[in-house]
Amino acid sequence: MDRRRQTALVLTGVVAAIAGIALAGVATQSPLRAARWLSADRQAHALAFDPTECLLRAADPLMARRIAIGRTAFRTPLLLGGQAARAGLSCNSCHRSGRGNPDFQFPGLSGAPGTADVTSSLMSSHRGDGIDNPKAIPDLSGSLEKLKISRDPANRKLETFIHGLIVEEFDGPEPTAMTLDGLATYVRALSPRGCPSSSEQPMRLAEYLSDARAAMHAAQFALDAHDPATARLMLASARSALGMIDERYVASALARDRELLRDADLELAAIQDAVDTGTTDATLRIAAWLAKMPRWVAPLERDESLSLFNAGQLAAAGRN
Ligand code: HEC
Repeated sequence: MDRRRQTALVLTGVVAAIAGIALAGVATQSPLRAARWLSADRQAHALAFDPTECLLRAADPLMARRIAIGRTAFRTPLLLGGQAARAGLSCNSCHRSGRGNPDFQFPGLSGAPGTADVTSSLMSSHRGDGIDNPKAIPDLSGSLEKLKISRDPANRKLETFIHGLIVEEFDGPEPTAMTLDGLATYVRALSPRGCPSSSEQPMRLAEYLSDARAAMHAAQFALDAHDPATARLMLASARSALGMIDERYVASALARDRELLRDADLELAAIQDAVDTGTTDATLRIAAWLAKMPRWVAPLERDESLSLFNAGQLAAAGRN
């Protein structure tokens, strides 16, 4: 069987299994989606801490925009499309904050924790033979000697590799030129020289909010460049960030916070529609969305300790 079909089928099976669990009303271990691809013994830690990102900031504003677009695309499952999107997988699920993920264990795609079978058909002569060949997920910000794909912008090998990953391995939609350029530029800006002193940090509401804000700016950059398709993906990434916040505000006492998030998300969906229909007010609406943000962020910040951003609450939710 064609490997692409095979990956799609495996993912279909997983999505169906997850849906089955939900329908049967069986309590899953954790209400967080990422728990589904984290090995059971490491889940508690992996859901409470994020690896830090080793990103070299660009002084050149145009370069900074390209990185922002790539960084945003890296964080939305919609980039991969199809079954991966439905399962909630993004580049960032495997390469957390651009690093690896020693705890990744996706049924059917992984062997030992930290591995996935995604590139064998791209990188080997066994293309299409269906060989199960999970590989360790590499740290994209690791030293260059350990990485296989050239980072040299002149030969565009990184662009070709990432394109194959999206379109062939994950059966995703053709990425826009701006998205592909952004992803390659972002990956090239990941470097051991960009690493902060600590290798991980507790997951906080502020990180997701900052991702959402950055995604809105990236959408703005894409609109400035008259690229509505890229702008749409950037808005989708902002929505992914809100979704990740929402699933941590599960307690019944936090219903009002969830409502605020839903309203913010509805407005994002409306802005996506405005981008699709080519109306000129999308730019203004993005600015208005950002201006309104502090109003709904304040109550969420106040309630953060009641949410699953609090490791104690997270552990209790996992025991239910
Ligand atoms: C399901 C997990 C998974 C997802 C999702 C994923 N990757 Fe990977 N990635 C891997 C694995 C495993 C390898 C190593 C493949 C190998 O060694 O043959 C890899 C390799 C790479 C490499 C090559 C690193 C090198 O050695 O130079 C790059 C670049 C990369 N991925 C970028 C991305 C981008 C960009 C996305 C999103 C479009 C993505 N990956 C999505 C698991 C994943």
